[in-house]
Amino acid sequence: MIKGFIFDLDGVITDTAELHYTAWKKLSDDMDWHFDRDLNEKLRGISRMDSIKVIMDHNDVSLDDEAVVELATKKNDIYVESLDDMTPEDYLPGARELLTHLRSEGFRVALGSASKNANKVLKQLNATHFFDVIGDGNSVSKSKPAPDIFLYASEKLGLSPENCIVFEDAEKGIDAAKAGKFHSVGIGPEERVGHADIRFDTMKEATLFEVKSHFKDLF
Ligand code: G6P
Ligand code: MG
Repeated sequence: MIKGFIFDLDGVITDTAELHYTAWKKLSDDMDWHFDRDLNEKLRGISRMDSIKVIMDHNDVSLDDEAVVELATKKNDIYVESLDDMTPEDYLPGARELLTHLRSEGFRVALGSASKNANKVLKQLNATHFFDVIGDGNSVSKSKPAPDIFLYASEKLGLSPENCIVFEDAEKGIDAAKAGKFHSVGIGPEERVGHADIRFDTMKEATLFEVKSHFKDLF
């Protein structure tokens, strides 16, 4: 039976991809590195340090660990500053409605995000109260596609993976959910999240009614 829901943050609750893009682009321009929206897509769901490695590999650049951390920190400072402009108007359409509905029906709800800035994003959205458990980039050391963040969230909820549905917009996020034996809902195009148990183009279509009708034997 489904008793809990675990949500990814970026791309599911709110769309931060554009803010990440702007911050990586600024850093890349400063470094004379190539960076575009296609490359930004490859960073969906993966950690900050994995992201900078993807960008450096793409540019055939290698630097010592200390320099890499310094550059990732510089990008993060730009990103965090841009979050100041985020408001409760910035939920993806349908996300706040679904969270409200799940709470009113008594489901347990957790966050399972790779971001180390999740608390700040939730605060800007005024969304913290929706979550019983907050799992973020500080909670585990192995990031998606490893299942660790979702296992952390379900354990803190006191539920087994088979009692939880994970919502994800990233290919590697669905990989992580499947590796942990969670039920999964993919948000986005077939080529990205077509391997989820069920897929919706956007959060607007992902209502509790639709989710229940797909997983009907589990409710
Ligand atoms: C999310 C985003 C990724 C980002 C990661 C780490 O998963 O989809 O693009 O790299 O979080 O975010 P952070 O806020 O810690 O840099
Ligand atoms: Mg995401």
